[in-house]
Amino acid sequence: MIEIDSVVKKIRFLEKVPIFSKVKLTDEEQAKRTKPKKYFQLIIDLLNAIEGEIIVEIGSMRTPIDHDPELTFMCCNDGHSTFYWCKSEKEIYSVDINFNTYLCVIRNLSKNRNLQPVNNGGIKFLKKFDKKIDLLFLDAWDVYPHIKYSERHLQAYFAAKDKMSDKCIVAIDDTDIAFGGKGKLVIPELIKDGFDILNEGRVTIALRI
Ligand SMILES: C[S@@+](CC[C@H](N)C(=O)[O-])C[C@H]1O[C@@H](n2cnc3c(N)ncnc32)[C@H](O)[C@@H]1O
Repeated sequence: MIEIDSVVKKIRFLEKVPIFSKVKLTDEEQAKRTKPKKYFQLIIDLLNAIEGEIIVEIGSMRTPIDHDPELTFMCCNDGHSTFYWCKSEKEIYSVDINFNTYLCVIRNLSKNRNLQPVNNGGIKFLKKFDKKIDLLFLDAWDVYPHIKYSERHLQAYFAAKDKMSDKCIVAIDDTDIAFGGKGKLVIPELIKDGFDILNEGRVTIALRI
């Protein structure tokens, strides 16, 4: 049994990562960003430590992982999150509005019987979801100037809020860009709702126990 305190300590002491205030990064800046992979195992360890069972991610893996997962390539900037969640033995709901992304998940990961790929809008899905969520991973609306990414992620959190287990985790990708990026409006709400923000950087991890 993993102790919560030891995982929390590891997350709090993750090394600081480069933070970019801009929305549009150059290819060179994109290449300098920390990749999400290293956070995923820690999130799974934390989920095990709080004995959580249900993962809901909004924004599925849109590029297959067709290389050694130990190695990191440019495609890993997105994260391949669904691939990593499948390594846990949790019940996973991976939701994406884009049919091609949904197909990518089906084609590459459907051998994982614990994974339920869903082709739907994230907010719509969360409003109707009728189980308790132990880990909510928010990684949908891209950080582009024409997209209301921070507002939409906040709406997604609001749609999930009453379904979150008492002990739970909310993780948000792309919080190292655009002044908090996808988490800019969600993070202050999480604090109001009693979450402890364990780290801020590429992936923000918030825990409530
Ligand atoms: C950054 S990618 C997700 C990357 C993935 N989590 C990973 O680590 O590989 C964002 C995804 O969110 C999806 N998306 C955008 N708007 C959405 C919405 N309203 N509901 C659900 N998914 C959405 C896009 O289709 C896209 O596949």
